Amino acid sequence: MTVNETEVNRKPETSSDERDRRVLKLYEHVIEIEERLIPTGLHVFGCVPEERSRADMLRMVASFDRAESGARALTDLVAEGLSLDSYQSLLQSSFEDEKSLKARERVESKVCEAIRLFLEQGTERAIEFLRSEARVEPEDSRPMLALLQSISTQLKTNAELDALARALRGEYIEPGSGADIVQNPAILPTGRNTHAVNPYAVPSALAYSRAELVVNRLLERHLAEHGRYPRAMALVLWGLDNIKTQGEGVAQALWLLGVRPVRDALNRVTEVEPISLEKLGRPRIDVVMTVSGIFRDLFGATALLLDKAVRRVAALDESADLNFVRRNVTEQAREDDCSFDEAATRLFSNAPGNYGTNVNFMVMDSQWETGETLGHLFVTRKCFAYGRDASGRMIEGREARAAMERALSKVEAAHQNIDSFEIGITDVDHYFEYLGGVAKAVEKRARSKPAIYLSDSLSRDTKIRSLEETVRLETRAKTLNPKWYEGMLRHGFRGVAEIENHITNTFGWSATADAVDDWVYTEVAQTFLLDKAMLERLRDLNPHSVHSLVGRLLEAEGRGFWNVEDGMLEKLREIYSELEDRIEGVA
Ligand code: BEZ
Ligand code: MG
Repeated sequence: MTVNETEVNRKPETSSDERDRRVLKLYEHVIEIEERLIPTGLHVFGCVPEERSRADMLRMVASFDRAESGARALTDLVAEGLSLDSYQSLLQSSFEDEKSLKARERVESKVCEAIRLFLEQGTERAIEFLRSEARVEPEDSRPMLALLQSISTQLKTNAELDALARALRGEYIEPGSGADIVQNPAILPTGRNTHAVNPYAVPSALAYSRAELVVNRLLERHLAEHGRYPRAMALVLWGLDNIKTQGEGVAQALWLLGVRPVRDALNRVTEVEPISLEKLGRPRIDVVMTVSGIFRDLFGATALLLDKAVRRVAALDESADLNFVRRNVTEQAREDDCSFDEAATRLFSNAPGNYGTNVNFMVMDSQWETGETLGHLFVTRKCFAYGRDASGRMIEGREARAAMERALSKVEAAHQNIDSFEIGITDVDHYFEYLGGVAKAVEKRARSKPAIYLSDSLSRDTKIRSLEETVRLETRAKTLNPKWYEGMLRHGFRGVAEIENHITNTFGWSATADAVDDWVYTEVAQTFLLDKAMLERLRDLNPHSVHSLVGRLLEAEGRGFWNVEDGMLEKLREIYSELEDRIEGVA
């Protein structure tokens, strides 16, 4: 594996300590890539997952406490049984702490073995193994194994085709909640009519407590790298994500503002209450929220709650140094000679009935001149305000371009939450159209590129990554990982199209944020195009997608996103024109 310069700084050797530190850093990266759960193929409608992916899913499910089933995480039980530090503290210990690292590996390998035995020989064998090898009492492990048994059985059956046929006959399809399987195993069996959450229940208590950790880590990182807290942050909120996580994205916005949700007598979240600055221990961060059309449609009550939260915080009698919302709103009202109320507009979406930013289409069709065009398009599509005005009247998609531009001009960081193992920032074009789009809009209006973060609260070890780090991780864990692309290639024509999609989505991060290292494009070219046997395979399966792939790499070079090595460009051009001849010959 080639290690790029940004991942490990290539300074002259200083000491063996320095060398050890770098080796550890490298080890940390390798482990992170190795541990990343990735889909190894597309879901085939009506088919059940293979044994290996079933084992991976069960292992992830077993690493969380499941209060609803009275089951404790196997990782925690094993750590306790072996008289080690708690699993949570092992997760948080530094990679330089070799003893903790070994202890963590020991715990995880016991859990892995227990899952293997469970799948091969059943519940009792796994319980016995945990008792004899990790001193976990059977009454403690049994609830989790019972849950795994039920999930495993449901994963082996699939009613999707049957449900589709019934739906086509106009029959009733039973509803089931929509979520990530690890976050909520109750989504099984698949093939049901997905129902959302009650918007008044959002954010759940769990989502609010998980969001605290994410926001604290994000702000700590920003403070460490920039020397101060961001004055305002652009947040992207999606509907399906907030369904799956019961509102983690919403809760992150509330934490940044420094407010807690308040429930009424019917247990509905309809109010917010400011957390005191003393308790918060940091300034309140201003937030500019761009919500998807789906979020707007599903979470009307939540949009009102978020709008109310911003207005409540802006009105607090607090020092401008500790209340960035108040500071920004006051400044905006003064500079632009508008009302305080108008200057406090922070929740934007599409015009009623409209969806998406179109930034993705413009990038995919190569129809843009400069990055500014993309940021401009984002604002044009998303500058419609939602909330309530000072007199309590509903604002439902009022055009508010000036308000959005002013709010974006204060933004110093942008963030989106990743909610699922299955879809990451290079799997679909929507992450770059939203997070990349808003970052591009900020860049022009704030006259500086914002720091871009993604949080990933998929595992117990909550991670905050910069956009660049996330692109590198996805590239290693998926695009360039033979396990991933061979999994895709099993699907023939469609698989090649998926590989091409990944490269185009990766390119989307060049177009909107220039966040892709040269080595990414270089290794994509080497893996898929300059390897003769691979090129032939791809070409035979789907020449059109390979043609687009080469075209995209040439575009990356042409637009200055890729410093290509000598000689490579000519080879790619040759492949491009050969493919063109071949496609035209077939047509
Ligand atoms: C949403 O759930 O809000 C969403 C889904 C797909 C693309 C963009 C947004
Ligand atoms: Mg570059």
